[in-house]
Amino acid sequence: MNGIKGIAFDLYGTLFDVHSVAARCDDAFPGRGREISALWRQKQLEYTWLRSLMQRYVDFEQATEDALRFACRQLGLELDSRTHDTLRNAYLQLAPFAEVPGTLRELRQRGLKLAILSNGSPKSIDAVVSHVGLRGEFDHLLSADAVHVYKPDHRVYELAGQTLQLDRTEILFVSSNAWDATGARSFGFPTCWINRSGNVFEEMGQKPDWEVTGLQGLAALFE
Ligand code: LAC
Repeated sequence: MNGIKGIAFDLYGTLFDVHSVAARCDDAFPGRGREISALWRQKQLEYTWLRSLMQRYVDFEQATEDALRFACRQLGLELDSRTHDTLRNAYLQLAPFAEVPGTLRELRQRGLKLAILSNGSPKSIDAVVSHVGLRGEFDHLLSADAVHVYKPDHRVYELAGQTLQLDRTEILFVSSNAWDATGARSFGFPTCWINRSGNVFEEMGQKPDWEVTGLQGLAALFE
């Protein structure tokens, strides 16, 4: 990790467990929680990529709400406005993965600048990290909203270097989303893929520089 002075983290799925909304989905639609949250997440990502290609940006909350409506319709579930609001708000109150708070502190103690670089809107990113008291661990919260296009568009990755005032080769990009790690590697960030579930990496001609099974593994790379 010689030469790394800052870390830019993806938010959803990397630091916070998006499937923690499955429990809320299950309250609303008993027995269907995991199915809804999986389709919801998949559509949320697709809508961000499609909107980037179409040059029809809406913020991440809007894309998330659109994806929820699609998922419920596709699964034949009636989404009333109260359930819609409850589930939408669940996305602002995600649980961090267990090792995240301790590892962030450890990385900060090593003098690294820490940032989040997410497709989430500034309001969502702030809400998610503040809800669990982690706002203070980050020097910067960076949102794709600043450039009105979503990762993996290079303009989003560029925000990190501009804000941290570091060269891209000095910023380690960390994501558990293989598509995002692919985009970051293609942009030129040294990249660490957090592979918690034993997934295979994308076949797009890019490879992460490091692969670990959790954030502890990331901290160990700096020892
Ligand atoms: C993020 C999502 C898309 O950018 O993982 O945080």
